[in-house]
Amino acid sequence: AVNLAIAFAMQGHENKVGLLDADLHGPCVPTMLGMQDQKLKVGPIGAFPALGPLGVKVVSMAFVLAGKEVPVVWRGPLKMRAIEQFLSEIAWGELDFLLIDLPPGTGDEPLSVLKLLPEMDGVIIVTIPSEVSQNVVGKAITFAKQLNVPVIGIVENMSGFVCPDCGKETHIFMKGGGKKIAQEYSVPFLGSIPLDPRVCEASDMGHPFIMEYSDSPASKAFMIIVKKIKAFISERQS
Ligand SMILES: Nc1ncnc2c1ncn2[C@@H]1O[C@H](COP(=O)(O)OP(=O)(O)OP(=O)(O)O)[C@@H](O)[C@H]1O
Ligand SMILES: [Mg+2]
Repeated sequence: AVNLAIAFAMQGHENKVGLLDADLHGPCVPTMLGMQDQKLKVGPIGAFPALGPLGVKVVSMAFVLAGKEVPVVWRGPLKMRAIEQFLSEIAWGELDFLLIDLPPGTGDEPLSVLKLLPEMDGVIIVTIPSEVSQNVVGKAITFAKQLNVPVIGIVENMSGFVCPDCGKETHIFMKGGGKKIAQEYSVPFLGSIPLDPRVCEASDMGHPFIMEYSDSPASKAFMIIVKKIKAFISERQS
């Protein structure tokens, strides 16, 4: 989600991208963007998002918690209320896109978001290539369809690893599961992002990978995925 948000900003939407970290139990977006010391600024009309690289506007539970070791011990209705407040009581300003990063699966957070924003453009489902993860993806697609939210497409992440020493490609989590399940459920396949240790390293350091290594195959994959998402949305709006 972090790299997609930055990719949107790089494709002509600087200062116009919002990123809501709706993973309430394990909010990682601020760390991945080097924003862990920021807080939401509060003004008379509500709270303002924190500003990340390229003016990406970020809201996360991590900005409201008293410390990084503080757990959120909440049941569904309270989580829904928090997400509702993040959506309605934050002065997001003018946005071209709002990305919402969700925890895996079909629990309270995705249900809240899909219920609160029934007219959203759609969902993007990220998977690893292996067969077991496809069961979870199938459930996610069915979930979106049941709630009448379009599936923009499937992204296969951690798709193959090219050894930097010998150039040999290894399919650590198998290959092709994302495309296969997209075909099975007749939803678009948006692309594959290879494993690249620099993705992990950059996000731990809080530097957006896609800005630092824009020529890498993974960054190119992110850029193509964003183009496909934009095409899906403009086709839907026309
Ligand atoms: N293609 C990749 N290559 C290398 N590392 C990656 C890649 N994609 C993600 N990572 C790293 O793997 C970790 C988990 O990634 P990510 O946050 O995207 O997973 P997630 O599906 O959101 O998982 P979670 O269950 O924690 O929400 C992060 O440290 C991230 O930097
Ligand atoms: Mg996550």
